[in-house]
Amino acid sequence: MADASSEAPAVAAAVEARGLARRFDGAVAVAGLDLTVGPGRVHGLVGPNGAGKTTLLSMLLGLVRPDAGTLRLFGRTHGEHGARARDGVAGFVEAPRFYPYLTGRANLELLAGLDGGDARSRIASALEVSGLGDAAKAKVGGYSVGMRQRLGIAASLLRDPRLLILDEPTSGLDPAGMRDVAALVRRLAGDGVAVLLSSHDMDEVEGLCDDVTIMHAGRAAFDGTMAELRDRAPAPEFLLTTSDDEKALDVATSSDGLVVAREADGEALSVRAARERLDEYVIALGRAGIAVRTLALRTSALKSLFFDLTGGGPADAATAAEPTLEKVPG
Ligand SMILES: Nc1ncnc2c1ncn2[C@@H]1O[C@H](COP(=O)(O)OP(=O)(O)OP(=O)(O)O)[C@@H](O)[C@H]1O
Ligand SMILES: [Mg+2]
Repeated sequence: MADASSEAPAVAAAVEARGLARRFDGAVAVAGLDLTVGPGRVHGLVGPNGAGKTTLLSMLLGLVRPDAGTLRLFGRTHGEHGARARDGVAGFVEAPRFYPYLTGRANLELLAGLDGGDARSRIASALEVSGLGDAAKAKVGGYSVGMRQRLGIAASLLRDPRLLILDEPTSGLDPAGMRDVAALVRRLAGDGVAVLLSSHDMDEVEGLCDDVTIMHAGRAAFDGTMAELRDRAPAPEFLLTTSDDEKALDVATSSDGLVVAREADGEALSVRAARERLDEYVIALGRAGIAVRTLALRTSALKSLFFDLTGGGPADAATAAEPTLEKVPG
């Protein structure tokens, strides 16, 4: 029997989930998922609508109880450590909620009062970092989606988190807001904070994350480093129009590492090729007297892989396989 007062090892992972599962009304939302997030890592959780991202993050935040599996946060479990298992953990799922009739700052003061400790002393810096600016003096009821998102991040920072959990933090943000959040996340990770964030956008995750879990129908279709994911990615796909598509198709037939096909509407060619191979093809077209009129990236390598792994559509929970049910300790 573990001693409930024993301290976790100093190098414990921020998140160590094994076989975590949750169903709603008989439908599987998370189907026995393993997840490890190390300190100072930015971990992306990507997946189509209904993949189970919010449910997974809700379990980590203690908002939804798992049906099965084990969860350790910095080595601590809810069973052994109670509410202390979530010391140093902050974040929100879906839209962060606040009192609409109070200002942003007043909401933070209220939260800091509830959190206790030195949370109050962090209000000014949390507001500055989140980039809310003068909007902090306005009532939250009048906030845009992006302003609420920024206030949600400020509220999380009050807790001086070592694990920050953000559910689609850039949804509703303008491009400058997205850039701010990305910079903030990288800076926190540089200070050793583990950041786990969800997103629909593979390309956004590529630019921001060290590790990635691609979820589909409650399962991890991929779990590894960004570099490992890139290694597995197929060639990107381009759309090509030329002065003579028929001839352009003929030029393509003799080369490997290159797949050229006519689009269904006959108006363009689709080309799948790595960069060097594509360069060779374009040069070959020129040599054959065929002019390239447009050449545009249609699906990046990572997006292609994402679609391959997730089937390209929303998850169908009803068809998800049964999770192996293990007893949740505690
Ligand atoms: N409170 C709930 N009650 C019933 N079903 C739920 C509940 N929360 C989630 N689900 C179901 O669980 C599955 C996973 O939902 P979840 O919200 O975790 O997906 P998601 O990956 O966050 O999707 P999105 O990208 O749309 O936010 C869906 O089929 C959803 O309908
Ligand atoms: Mg969600």
